[in-house]
Amino acid sequence: MAELLKAPAEVQFKEELEALIKEDKNNPKPINWKLSPRAVLTYLMGGKAGKKEITPKYIGQKRLMEIAIATLATDRALLLYGVPGTAKSWVAEHLAAAISGDSTRIVQGTAGTSEEAIRYGWNYASLLAKGPTDEAVVPSPIMRAMELGTIARVEELTRIGADVQDALLTILSEKALPIPELNKTIRAVEGFNIIATANNRDKGVNEMSSALKRRFNTVILPVPGSIKEEIEIVQRRVSSMTQKIGMKESHTKQIETIVTIFRELRNGLTQDGKTKLKVPSGTLSPAEAISVMYQGITMAHWFGDDELNAEDLSSAMIGAIVKDPVQDAVVFKEYMETVMKERSDWKDLYRACKNQL
Ligand SMILES: Nc1ncnc2c1ncn2[C@@H]1O[C@H](COP(=O)(O)OP(=O)(O)OP(=O)(O)O)[C@@H](O)[C@H]1O
Ligand SMILES: [Mg+2]
Repeated sequence: MAELLKAPAEVQFKEELEALIKEDKNNPKPINWKLSPRAVLTYLMGGKAGKKEITPKYIGQKRLMEIAIATLATDRALLLYGVPGTAKSWVAEHLAAAISGDSTRIVQGTAGTSEEAIRYGWNYASLLAKGPTDEAVVPSPIMRAMELGTIARVEELTRIGADVQDALLTILSEKALPIPELNKTIRAVEGFNIIATANNRDKGVNEMSSALKRRFNTVILPVPGSIKEEIEIVQRRVSSMTQKIGMKESHTKQIETIVTIFRELRNGLTQDGKTKLKVPSGTLSPAEAISVMYQGITMAHWFGDDELNAEDLSSAMIGAIVKDPVQDAVVFKEYMETVMKERSDWKDLYRACKNQL
């Protein structure tokens, strides 16, 4: 039978979570949490549960994860904020999986997200036949989480219209969701909370009202501080992919190159701090580096001889860097001529890029 394309975190990391639950049995936990805050931290940052190795999910400052976890144990909700590709959704999913054992109660924020998606909707057939009854209510993932005392997630909160966002206000401050049609109110069970994500680069986002902002603790997820961390992030995701398709090679050299190029372009400065560079328009986060590697490896696997060569890598890389065909192409060509050309072990990559641009 074919496996799921992407299983939720609680399925993918079932063994790790079970090992942690077992080790954590006697520790005090917030009500309705599957794990103690400390064990949630171990799940996120990696470590040991008995003999079982827990892989790190988030690579970066432990302090940020401590604040995020502690927030969820209070009556304030958590907002993960930052530029695209800094693991906001990834962290939100793992937090929900570790705390509630279920990361799938999720509302995707879009310009078209309506209040029903946040509160509840109606089954119209039933509504017309019998009028408003309990059975006719279609609960949102947030309403379900309130009833069960679990974590609900709101992805891309600021893409939702500001008036609709405010439907969260009563839920977060009163911990209640009135259903006037039934003359009743759903009250949240302990353990309920919300993790929202938002990114600050998108165009057309809607500012949160200050009333809503006050109900969230904001944790800003930064782009990786050191090149070492960034390489590790990419390396981990790439090796889980290559294992799947049965490749042995670790691609360390190529990952190092891509991450260096992305960091230099993003920062507008070479690693040695000597040459100033122009910055391309797109974001070049670890998420883009991961997909460049994925694409290169896929090309090598299906069309090549499983060796990730400079041609495979360069076409994926140019696709990620050159988002604006005019401006970004100029920026990247300048980088090629002033930086890439001078680095002796990048000769192949330089030539491959030159052939394509
Ligand atoms: N610090 C990090 N630690 C571990 N993984 C990371 C880190 N930063 C980025 N990643 C990886 O980058 C990928 C993309 O992250 P994710 O989709 O969560 O980004 P996001 O912040 O939600 O972006 P967007 O704003 O576009 O939704 C994740 O799969 C994750 O593996
Ligand atoms: Mg996201």
